[in-house]
This record gives sequence, C-alpha cells and structure tokens, in this order.
Amino acid sequence: MKKWRFNGPLLFKLTSLVLVVTLLSVGVTTFFVARLAQRSLETRAREDLSADAQMISLSLSEALAAQLSDPGALQEQVEFLERLTKRTIRILDASGQLVAGSTPSGFDLKDYFAAYVNLEDGSVLQVFMAKGEISNMSRRIARGSILIAIVVAASAVAVAYLVNRSITNPIQDLLAMVRSLQERQFGRMVLVRSTDEIGQLGRAFNELSEILDDLFETISSREGQLDTILSSMDDGVIAVNMRREIILANRAAADLWDLPEDVIGQNLFDATRHEELMRILEKTMDARETFTSEVRVRPGSERTVAITSSPLQDEKGKIQGAVAVMRDVTSLRHLEQMRQEFVSNVSHELRTPLTSIKGFVETLLNGHLDDQQLLERFLRIIAAETDRMIALINDLLDLSRIESGKLKVNKAAVDMKKIFDDTVLLLQSRAEEKQITLENNIYNPIIVEGDEKLLRQVALNLVDNGVKYTQEGGRVWIEAEEGLDHVEFIVGDNGVGIPSEHLDRIFERFYRVDKGRSRQTGGTGLGLAIVKHIIDRHKGTIAIESRVGKGTKIRITLKKIS
Ligand SMILES: Nc1ncnc2c1ncn2[C@@H]1O[C@H](COP(=O)(O)OP(=O)(O)OP(=O)(O)O)[C@@H](O)[C@H]1O
Ligand SMILES: [Mg+2]
Repeated sequence: MKKWRFNGPLLFKLTSLVLVVTLLSVGVTTFFVARLAQRSLETRAREDLSADAQMISLSLSEALAAQLSDPGALQEQVEFLERLTKRTIRILDASGQLVAGSTPSGFDLKDYFAAYVNLEDGSVLQVFMAKGEISNMSRRIARGSILIAIVVAASAVAVAYLVNRSITNPIQDLLAMVRSLQERQFGRMVLVRSTDEIGQLGRAFNELSEILDDLFETISSREGQLDTILSSMDDGVIAVNMRREIILANRAAADLWDLPEDVIGQNLFDATRHEELMRILEKTMDARETFTSEVRVRPGSERTVAITSSPLQDEKGKIQGAVAVMRDVTSLRHLEQMRQEFVSNVSHELRTPLTSIKGFVETLLNGHLDDQQLLERFLRIIAAETDRMIALINDLLDLSRIESGKLKVNKAAVDMKKIFDDTVLLLQSRAEEKQITLENNIYNPIIVEGDEKLLRQVALNLVDNGVKYTQEGGRVWIEAEEGLDHVEFIVGDNGVGIPSEHLDRIFERFYRVDKGRSRQTGGTGLGLAIVKHIIDRHKGTIAIESRVGKGTKIRITLKKIS
C-alpha cells in the first residue's frame, strides 16, 4: 500500500481546520500566559526592590553616621552594595544634591523600577533596577511558550491527519465503489478496517453491492429471456413511452418497418414514417384501451399488417406508454381472396355448361322431342358439356386431394421417356388436326423417382397446353438434360406465348391468360396448378419461360435414379 496518497479536499479541509483551531487556541493561551508572567515578574521585581532598599538603608546607617568624618567610606559602602545587589544606588541630600553613588550614563527614569527610602538625616536613598532585566526574562518565557505551542500544534495536526485519513480513506473507497456501481460493475467490495460507524457503513455498502449484483443478474437474465422470446417471435412488437419514443422493438418489427439498428429512443414516427401506426398507439395511450386495426406497411404496398395496440401501465395503473403487436396478414388476406375467387370461379365454370344444358333440354321439352336429328345433336352437346363438368370436377377433386395432403404419392422408379412417348401418342391426333409437329426428343430411358400416375398427369397437362396454345403448323417438342442426380425435362413450343406480367400467377388455380380463348379451347386454368402441386410433392422444381409470339418452355426437374 502506498504510504502517501492524495486524499482529496476533505482530508485537507479537516486537517487545516484542526491546524487553524490548534494554532488559534495555543496562540491565545501563549499570549495570555506570557502577559501574566510579565505582570507577576514586574510585581515581584517591585517588591524585591523595596525590600532591597530597606536592607540597603539599614546597611548604610553606620557609614551615614560617619559621613562627615569619612565621606569616602559612604561612597565605598554604596559601591560595595551596588556590586552585591546588582542595583543602582544613589543618595541625595535634602537639596537634591548627589551625596553618594552615581547616575549611570544616559539615565532615564522610565527604563527603571525605583524604590525610595527617607533616611534619618533627611537625605533620600534611591535604588534602581533596569526594566530590561524583566523584559529579557519574559521574552525568554514567551519564546519557550511559542516553541511549546509549535510542538503542540504540529502534534495535533499530525494526529488529526492520521485520524482524518482513517475517515477519508474508507470514504474514498466507498466513492470508488459507488462510481463502479454507476458503471454497472456490481459486486465490488470495500475493505472494512474498523468496527466503528465508518466500518459499519462499509459493511452496509458491501451488502448493498451484493444485493444490487444479484438484482442486476436477475434483471439481466430476465431481460435476456425476454429478448430471446421477443426475437424468436414471428409477430412484431414495438413499445413506446409517453413521449412517443421507441423503448422496445423486436426483430420481426424491425423487418416489417425497416427500422434502423439504433432505433431505441427514436421517435416512433421518425423511425417508421407510418401515420396510422402512430395514430393507433396515440389513441391507445389517450383512451387507455386496446385497439386493433389493419394497415398497409407502405401506401400502395401489398403487405397488410394487423395491429393490436394495448396501453402499458405500471402497478399503480399509471399509463407509461403503449405496446403494439403486429402480424403480417398479407398471405392470410391473399388466401381469403383466393378462396373467394375460387368459389366464384367454380360457380362460374359450372354455370356455363349447366346453362347451356338447361337451354338444350328446355328446347327439346318444348316440342322438339320428335325431331330425331335435333335430339341427337343436342344430346351430344349435352354429353360434351357434362364431360366438361366431370373433367372440371375431377380436376378440382385432384387438386383438393393434392392440396390437402391426402393424395398418396407412391414413389417408384418411373421411366419418363416412356411416359412422354405415351403422351405424344395420346395427343398425336389432336396435333395432326392442327398440323402441329409433336415429337419426343428423348431417345433413351430416363428413370426418375416418382408416382407414375401423377407424372403421367404432369406430362399430359404440359403437352396438352403446348398443343392447345400453339397455332396451326407449329411445333411442340420434349427434351431432357441430365445432371448428376437430377434431370430436367423441357416441354417447349413455338406457340402464342405468355405476356411476362402473367408469369408470376400462371400456377394459380383458374388462372388463364385469355379467359375467352382458353374457355373456347375447353381450359379451366387448373392444369398448371395441378402440375405445380404434383412436382412440389415430388420435391422437384418447375419454371416457366415464355415470350409472346415466340413460344413457351416449361422446365421441371426431378430426382434421377441412376
Ligand atoms: N404452352 C403454353 N403457351 C401459351 N400459354 C400457355 C401455355 N401453357 C399454359 N398457358 C396459359 O396458362 C393458362 C393456364 O394453363 P392451365 O394449363 O393451368 O389451364 P388451361 O390450359 O387453361 O386449362 P386446363 O389445363 O385446366 O384444361 C392457360 O389458360 C394459358 O393461357
Ligand atoms: Mg392446361
């Protein structure tokens, strides 16, 4: 441990305070002690001086009496006494004339203490003591006191420094700990050095730090769980506070609204640019009620989102913001639309042949039953319309069986060359009717894994389309490109082709490019839908490329068995 370290202003303040207080008290004490000493020294000096004067007058009485006969003896006696008592002695007669003793040079009465004694013959004995002697002594006392004061003050400051340090050091430790708490570093401990209040404070802080550590861990693990749950949710979640700032947004929400990385804290509208979303959340916060709504992600976009917005309240019921949960319902709405279209399509497809059957039947019943020729012609039409309805219903049944997953795919090794050969044979007469060249350019068996019956349906539908949508004198062909474990079959024609804007939807049920013409050729728009489903069930792929007036190529890939 470092012996000296800068302990900050508190230690400095406390120690200087002690220094000032000690200096002040010691200084004042010293001052008064010195003054008292001086006073008592003076009093004592005056008393001593008058006692000395009395004694001196006694010792001089004999010499005084013999003064007239021996004037030198008095002077001698005075000088002797001066040396003995270390005082200045003078004897003045009644007229103030110096009789014995001497006046020191530069004598000034105010520099001396004086004692006077009236002698018997009327003269006056004067004894002087220099004040300087006293002040010397008191100066020495003062110097001593100051020295003591300095020593006392220095020791007081040293003790105060040590004591203060034992207070400020733990405070500094605590301060460092609080700082690390602010930086979310929990679990830091301070060294408890004593059992006094400061030690107790340290211990209490240590406990607090441990509690915070536990608490933080719990919160972070909860936060982690919440994060995981939120980010694994398919539904988007966005929460805002009362200031309309985003306080939470999960991955799904970020994907849905194209939110930037640092979206937390941003204004909702700035981040999403979506007025309706903003409005529904504001409405929720104002009314404190749950609202649901369906909006487009962007104006004109296909993507539809169902939003449920609920108020966020704390335990006391105070409103804190709102949370919106949103689900992409685009495909749901699309499905709904498709179902509606499907029902109307089926009804439409059935109504046309049924109306014509009804017409022919009514004509016959209205008195044409006897017309054998007409009867036969109408019955043939009725039979053809019925066939068409049966074919439609069979297609629909196939489709629904495939779509519902009920259709069993019996996988086996299937030779596609043979299937296409048979298909060509089946449609050859129809092709010849239109002078269309129809050929299978597969010359060797290609064995794939699949359900023969279903794959025959695929081939029939594709080649049938080729023949159907190619004008007279055209060409329809079949070829294959073999890969390592897959094989691609191409059914191509140089027929009417399909405009590119239709290509995306061509595999949908009932989807036909030219409804009128297609119906003329007997199509209902189910063929490619069925083909697509069958290929999907075989885990194969299907793609279409087509140019209007140039022709169409359908490519399907299937798993090969080598
Ligand atoms: N080879 C092709 N050339 C040009 N257009 C095609 C071709 N194949 C399909 N189409 C277009 O795609 C539409 C959908 O084809 P699909 O086979 O699903 O139905 P369809 O042939 O009309 O009726 P269905 O096959 O049920 O008798 C057709 O109506 C036609 O407009
Ligand atoms: Mg077809």
